[in-house]
Amino acid sequence: MDTKAPAGKLGVLIPGLGAVSTTFIAGVDAIINGHSAPIGSLTQMGTIRLGKRTDNNNPKIKEFVPLADLGDLVFGAWDIFEDDGFQAATKAAVLSPQDLEKARTALEAVKPMKAVFDQEYVKNLDGDYKKSAPNKMLLAEMLMEDIKTFRKTNNTTREVMVWCASTEVYFEPSDIHSSLEKFEAALRDNDDRIAPSMIYAYAALKSGVPFFNGAPNLTVDIPAIQELAMETGLPIAGKDFKTGQTLIKTILAPGLKSRMLGVDGWFSTNILGNRDGEVLDDPMSFKTKEVSKKGALDYILQPDTYPDLYKDLYHKVRINYYPPRGDAKEGWDNIDIFGWMGYKMQIKVDFLCRDSILAAPIVLDLVLFADLALRHNMRGIQEWLSFYFKSPMVAPELYPEHDIFIQLTKLKNTLRWMMGEELITHVGHEYYDSYE
Ligand SMILES: NC(=O)c1ccc[n+]([C@@H]2O[C@H](COP(=O)([O-])OP(=O)(O)OC[C@H]3O[C@@H](n4cnc5c(N)ncnc54)[C@H](O)[C@@H]3O)[C@@H](O)[C@H]2O)c1
Repeated sequence: MDTKAPAGKLGVLIPGLGAVSTTFIAGVDAIINGHSAPIGSLTQMGTIRLGKRTDNNNPKIKEFVPLADLGDLVFGAWDIFEDDGFQAATKAAVLSPQDLEKARTALEAVKPMKAVFDQEYVKNLDGDYKKSAPNKMLLAEMLMEDIKTFRKTNNTTREVMVWCASTEVYFEPSDIHSSLEKFEAALRDNDDRIAPSMIYAYAALKSGVPFFNGAPNLTVDIPAIQELAMETGLPIAGKDFKTGQTLIKTILAPGLKSRMLGVDGWFSTNILGNRDGEVLDDPMSFKTKEVSKKGALDYILQPDTYPDLYKDLYHKVRINYYPPRGDAKEGWDNIDIFGWMGYKMQIKVDFLCRDSILAAPIVLDLVLFADLALRHNMRGIQEWLSFYFKSPMVAPELYPEHDIFIQLTKLKNTLRWMMGEELITHVGHEYYDSYE
């Protein structure tokens, strides 16, 4: 199947004009203007091997697959605060005043639209720049109207939506989420079990726009939205950008397992002081994040398959809101491992990271890959993008793949498959056939 060429402007629609999204927008502007290299972005810096190792054919990913040009991105956002992108970025205080000044025009151009928001879902936050309507279906229609206006004003040929808004409280799917018909009835009934993020996802898909979820909210992990994605032929993906501690975890854990080293315990704690940290200070938003963060180790280490190594693994995750640190988070991991004859060892990791600096290139890659998937008519869950998520979405009968190296292989092989190239298995027997 051919991929349609990326002609014209690509709209990037973002619920949540906060630390991550403004850092992303400022960074794209810096790349376009030659102030910075696209560090951390696989689509921009990564290469992909084609054919045999002896062919020496390693083009850049962006030269191999037809991705949108960064100059063709146009940004739109919703927030509960009326601040434009520059004011929001200044408050988020991720970037230096000098870097913000360079991106001023690009950031100021992003004036948020009124949000769909309900404080029941984000306890530690409220603002007054919100839509109101008698029921949730009407709110969804207002979002669809926003998308239509954005499309017209900016003359975009296609759009993608990436959720960069706050983490909503934890809740489990219920009957109203089980089919599109029930979900739509619940929207009209103003049912409490429909979170704002689900209303955005519904509005996006109804408008022909793929929806990717950067937070750990339930959002598109429900049959109703998945049914809508299949019906509309649109890609969806999630959830929760894989940055910081979980990134390190999914780099280290596959390595320990590959050498059959045991793990007794893994304690992860961190301090962060941005607005995300403040939202996560509420136990119910933290619970959403905790569930998302805790899944990875079990899936990577497979305690049922390797009981001698991992059956007693004690995994604890803590997030502590500590304002002085702002976005400059510090994450500690204490890993209790054991080796030959059961002898115990410890690994300590102290990662002084910057959350939004790690998240911004992920947003860029996801925007470009969402658009690529759209133009390649790939609908429903995009498991090949697991690489970017803490809690990757998969078909109901599958377990998620968390090992970052398998995820990368899968991503690159999907690109090869899309372009009709031979897949790379890494067997490499052909180099040695002459010895047979
Ligand atoms: N930075 C990271 O490394 C990282 C990693 C994984 C996930 N995330 C998630 O990404 C999201 C954004 O993180 P951030 O650091 O930018 O947070 P932030 O608090 O700086 O920004 C979130 C913005 O969303 C707005 N918002 C909240 N609810 C909204 C709604 N219903 N509609 C529109 N706007 C709404 C808030 O007012 C705020 O401006 C969070 O959910 C966070 O958990 C971040």
